[in-house]
Amino acid sequence: MIIKKVVELLESDQVLQEYKVNGWVRAFRSNRFIALNDGSCLENLQCVVDFKNTDDQVLRKVTTGAAISVSGTLKESEGKGQSVELEVKSINILGEAHPEEVKKTILQPKKHSFEKLREQAHLRVRTNTFGAIMRVRSKLSFAVHQYFNDNGFFYVNTPIVTGSDAEGAGEMFKVTNLDLKDPPKTKDGEIDYSQDFFGKETNLTVSGQLEAETYAMGLGKVYTFGPTFRAENSNTTRHLAEFWMIEPEVAFCDLKGNIDLAEDFIQQVLKYITEHCKSDLEFLENRLLEEEKSKPEKDRSPMPLREKIDFVLKNNFKRVSYTEAIDILRNSKPNKKKKFSYIIKEWGADLQSEHERYLVEKHFECPVVIYDYPADIKAFYMRLNDDGKTVRAMDVLFPGIGEIAGGSQREERYDVLLSKMREIGIDEKELWWYLDTRKFGTCVHSGFGLGFERLVLFATGMSNIRDVIPYPRSPQNAEF
Ligand code: 4AD
Ligand code: MG
Repeated sequence: MIIKKVVELLESDQVLQEYKVNGWVRAFRSNRFIALNDGSCLENLQCVVDFKNTDDQVLRKVTTGAAISVSGTLKESEGKGQSVELEVKSINILGEAHPEEVKKTILQPKKHSFEKLREQAHLRVRTNTFGAIMRVRSKLSFAVHQYFNDNGFFYVNTPIVTGSDAEGAGEMFKVTNLDLKDPPKTKDGEIDYSQDFFGKETNLTVSGQLEAETYAMGLGKVYTFGPTFRAENSNTTRHLAEFWMIEPEVAFCDLKGNIDLAEDFIQQVLKYITEHCKSDLEFLENRLLEEEKSKPEKDRSPMPLREKIDFVLKNNFKRVSYTEAIDILRNSKPNKKKKFSYIIKEWGADLQSEHERYLVEKHFECPVVIYDYPADIKAFYMRLNDDGKTVRAMDVLFPGIGEIAGGSQREERYDVLLSKMREIGIDEKELWWYLDTRKFGTCVHSGFGLGFERLVLFATGMSNIRDVIPYPRSPQNAEF
């Protein structure tokens, strides 16, 4: 029996029966009360031990962190703090946890900093906060698949090891089986990747988009949901070197359809967790409220977590063109005392996170979609507008997060795409297969990429992206 079921039984008043429950001891008080958790839900099961009739040897091993199996009768609780408890008949020690060793770890029940918890990423899932985050993350990923399945999308798995740089940004981890201490060299003294396993230079994927596009051209509506890698050394609370990206791609869909899809998708998956992760979200909300209280007033988040999610569910995302966004920024006054000490931008420059935050958190006070960006600051595959200088790109900006998703209508015209590639020096021989889609039955199509961890960050109210993925990949967390 898992504790989640016990909690459900309690809700349906089916107590007074005998059950066996396995779990890890969170605490053991007065030689009598075991708080048992098995990860199935946030709640601990209070197990009441009749210590007079229990073997001392066994009781001594009921320590924080130990795995035990208890059997007993489920009873209405007389104590405060929980409404049900297990009156223990027998305890079986499954795996001991020595108290002296436990003291050196974050299993020791006291408040640990998130930095400390990250150093013990293999144990932090046993804390209430990380248990809650990881359950929400799991439910959210189920909701992603459910949304696409319900809406006629097919799930495609694009290569992890690839020869193409989908974003043209060059921030890739190389993959090679060559001995890099003594690599084969070409005549020009360069590493000779033609002798590599793949016969050319390969890397970990930065995005599955280009391959997903080719599949949209056969299956109509597809999505990927897999790991992506960026070798950018951005040591921020929003960037990971390895993150999971959700990338839908839809044939016969223009930019407006793409924005509609992004909005509906985000709202539906968030709605799913508000319905299926109630106690975890409530716990995370309370954690956040405590954290907010300890901050100076000016740094506090204006909205509690649940309200923030509800707000996104109930309100349409505000849609503004890049040009309008620049006008808004130009007409607003930077304020050094408040957080928004941004530098006003000229048309053509990329928006920095301070600009994005100003638009979302101060100006519109809701999620914002910015579209029609200058062609020069966006990727080669985006559909050029008739003005010849902007592309049908879109970025979805969220309060507290900044860019949560980015996408575009794709350039479907062979000649325009080819000349753009030539202009910026992308080898057309490398992307011959991508160009083929524009030769054989090309059509208007669009898609976007949403960083899954940024969505989890928003949903859980956490403030560092390293705390919403089981094992964050960054130079500081390399030992796992
Ligand atoms: O804006 P990006 O780079 O877009 C693409 O890769 C497109 N090929 C997507 C597409 O159109 N199919 O990345 C998309 C999203 C960002 O909006 C952000 O949420 C997330 O991926 N992202 C990261 N998340 C965590 N760590 C990083 N280093 C990230 N880089 C991007
Ligand atoms: Mg982007």
